[in-house]
Amino acid sequence: MRGTLIICSDLESLSREAAARFAAVVESRVGEQGIARVALAGGATPRRLYELLASEEFRASVPWARVHFFWGDERLVPLDHPESNYRMARETLLKHLALPKENVHPVPVASTAEAAALAYEQELRQHFRQRRGPPAFDLILLGLGADGHTASLFPRAAALAEKERLVAATQSPTSGLPRITLTLPVLNEARQIFFLVAGENKAAALRLAVEAPGTLPAQLVAPRRGLLTWLVDTAAAGQLHSVKVQAP
Ligand code: 6PG
Repeated sequence: MRGTLIICSDLESLSREAAARFAAVVESRVGEQGIARVALAGGATPRRLYELLASEEFRASVPWARVHFFWGDERLVPLDHPESNYRMARETLLKHLALPKENVHPVPVASTAEAAALAYEQELRQHFRQRRGPPAFDLILLGLGADGHTASLFPRAAALAEKERLVAATQSPTSGLPRITLTLPVLNEARQIFFLVAGENKAAALRLAVEAPGTLPAQLVAPRRGLLTWLVDTAAAGQLHSVKVQAP
């Protein structure tokens, strides 16, 4: 068993659990260092979490003005495009928060995924004031594809072998769309990683990712010093027979 596994009854309770833990991580980091750096996930699963964080319950308690938002991955589409991970987060969370503009760091959508990846790497190095080695995010949110992909790191992708680059250009094997993604060195440098996984179609990939190291992208996510938490629903946990579960 890799990390801590939290099984919730459904996407709503998973999202609530994630929101409470997100707020706790951010509040403690802002308390410790005056700032928190978070990388958001795309796809459908985190949408409810973002809505909850924007709700009355969390909007007042979290020191949002001290939070810097980045993305774990992005599709090479304009920021106002329906497929944009930035757009999804802006509509469900960011536009509801009193955030200084400079706290929001979308992937700079450029002409090519490679150009966007290079530009985003420079932005990370500038923001973290780090010339060498991967920066340490306080929290990275990740989803899980049924094929075991996470962020935009797809099975058998060359980017999985990346050791130096912080951001890579990849391509979705299903849509063929170019993607930009944080690389494994950055993911594995994080202080905390939350995997958000819901739905029966994710059960096989989740069992592989949780139970054993391997070559699937999600199996390669293993924070060097940080904490790994799986927030999953009962449907996704359907094949986890032999693992110890921590109650929400
Ligand atoms: C993306 C994501 C991707 C996502 C998984 C799960 O841009 O699509 O970052 O890695 O997390 O594909 O997607 P769902 O949450 O939609 O199932």
